[in-house]
Amino acid sequence: MAKIIVIANGKGGTGKSTITVQFANYLTSIGKAVAVLDADEGQTVMDMRAIELKNNPGTEAPWPVWKATQNAQAFMDRAKDMGDCYVLVDCPGTLNENLLPYFKSANAIVVPFRYDDVVIMRTMDFMKILELANIEGKRLFLPNLINVRVKNPNEEVIKDMFRKRGGAVLPQINDLVAVQRISTIRPIEKAQKKAVGLSVDGILNVVG
Ligand SMILES: Nc1ncnc2c1ncn2[C@@H]1O[C@H](COP(=O)(O)OP(=O)(O)O)[C@@H](O)[C@H]1O
Ligand SMILES: [Mg+2]
Repeated sequence: MAKIIVIANGKGGTGKSTITVQFANYLTSIGKAVAVLDADEGQTVMDMRAIELKNNPGTEAPWPVWKATQNAQAFMDRAKDMGDCYVLVDCPGTLNENLLPYFKSANAIVVPFRYDDVVIMRTMDFMKILELANIEGKRLFLPNLINVRVKNPNEEVIKDMFRKRGGAVLPQINDLVAVQRISTIRPIEKAQKKAVGLSVDGILNVVG
């Protein structure tokens, strides 16, 4: 049975697509089967893959990217029949009828965020929406785009706030050129593995 990991936040630009691709590459590097489900309106990961394959003809893609179909429920039903693998769903933050089945089936909901007042506010709003929709999947808050030279004075308060909402906080991902440099066809680089490895391990501890 596939494990469903939804990557979502109501706020754009928190690194959802970047993290989806880095995580897919990391999981591949540790021998896990993975697929990416692109549910974002922008179809970021799909577009990226299409461009990279066009520029590198003959390359074999390390993991499949599926476009999120209209019928998300049918898709999730199928995912349950798949063998051992991880399906990473790059989701937009607008929780509409079409997206609901992904959230309902999620083994974990990874919520990338930045220590920025507006982002935190939107992230909390997003948590309320998930609660109202009775979404039960474990919330895993992921501090991303961290500038190691600037410590946010409210870091601990914010983490506590997330934990109080029943979530866990994953190891952070720093703001790094290596993380920004994503590829959907090349194997993960050493620096990327170092940057995202602990966070992915944290997710695997939860979803198994
Ligand atoms: N850890 C990181 N280090 C450096 N740049 C990052 C990191 N995470 C995201 N970015 C950059 O931040 C921007 C927004 O990321 P993106 O993945 O497109 O966010 P989203 O999908 O949530 O809108 C992009 O320019 C991306 O390259
Ligand atoms: Mg995106």
